[in-house]
Amino acid sequence: MVPVSAISIKKLSKHFGKLRAVDGISLEVKEGEVFALLGPNGAGKTTTISMLCGLLRPTSGKASVAGYDAETEPLKVRKSIGVVFQQPSSDDLLSGRENLEMHALLYGMPGEGRKERIDSMLRLVGLTDRQKSRVKEYSGGMRKRLEIARGILHKPLILFLDEPTVGLDPQTRSHIWEYIRKMSQVEKTTIVFTTHYLEEAEKYADRVAIIDHGRMIALGKPSDLVRKLGGDIMLLKSKEPALIASELRKMPFARSVKIKEGIVSVTVPDSQKNLPKMLRLLDGVDSIEMHPATLNDVFIKYTGRAIREDSAEGSYWERIMNSKGDR
Ligand SMILES: Nc1ncnc2c1ncn2[C@@H]1O[C@H](COP(=O)(O)OP(=O)(O)O)[C@@H](O)[C@H]1O
Ligand SMILES: [Mg+2]
Repeated sequence: MVPVSAISIKKLSKHFGKLRAVDGISLEVKEGEVFALLGPNGAGKTTTISMLCGLLRPTSGKASVAGYDAETEPLKVRKSIGVVFQQPSSDDLLSGRENLEMHALLYGMPGEGRKERIDSMLRLVGLTDRQKSRVKEYSGGMRKRLEIARGILHKPLILFLDEPTVGLDPQTRSHIWEYIRKMSQVEKTTIVFTTHYLEEAEKYADRVAIIDHGRMIALGKPSDLVRKLGGDIMLLKSKEPALIASELRKMPFARSVKIKEGIVSVTVPDSQKNLPKMLRLLDGVDSIEMHPATLNDVFIKYTGRAIREDSAEGSYWERIMNSKGDR
């Protein structure tokens, strides 16, 4: 069976004055896919999602969502989707359950089966025990889980999640992901999420679109994108980076040799075999660190910088780039 497109975007752009927040993005998301829009802050992720949800008019281009035109048929689009925005939007004074009941009424869900549906969504996100507490007593993670339950209550074909885990601690983040995953399996919902957490895109998305300055710079399965880099990444610290780089460039197995802020980076294919050879040929290296390539390296390859300048958990490269220390 040929997979159907849940979302089809053609040359979608949104300009705010002179700023091209989204600048000609084209892509297809297949039915049932878990798809990530990955990019740094300000890349255009929220703007893209807002256009797909029919909340923002594109400057140019077309988007079809669940078969409807996002610009001209926004109501039909909205009936077919669920959205969880970055800002919490549940009612603090109501209980978790009451929030879901309100949503069910808003969406005109028939009374029959409504109670069961709410029960099962509460179970899915692990809030059965706390369903009667007011939302203002919930933790950040519980709120997010409630909003995710609300997002899929009316059985949308597609669920949009804008930065579902931002600001949550790592343990809560991985919990949230367990629920999202379970949901995509149980409900077969197509999921489009945005994130600036690389590990999340790498771990949970079937495919990712990496965006920067409103443009798509890479698209594919995380493992394919990483494999295309052609090897592991080695970073070398030396007092003479230019010399090291020029030596490396003479080596047939060294790829993408770059110097940034005094650190030499090189991609080494078949590193188990080539690394010892390489080190034998190099003189004057103070320290090296090797890591398997990640989506961050894909981002660095296309943009020359790390995806999260504020990352405490990023790669060696990011940490080194961000440490103002002994260079
Ligand atoms: N309503 C708006 N008016 C003007 N500029 C905006 C507006 N919304 C977003 N932007 C700008 O568009 C760019 C992309 O924003 P956004 O889509 O929110 O990025 P992301 O979600 O990837 O962090 C940013 O430079 C942002 O400041
Ligand atoms: Mg955003």
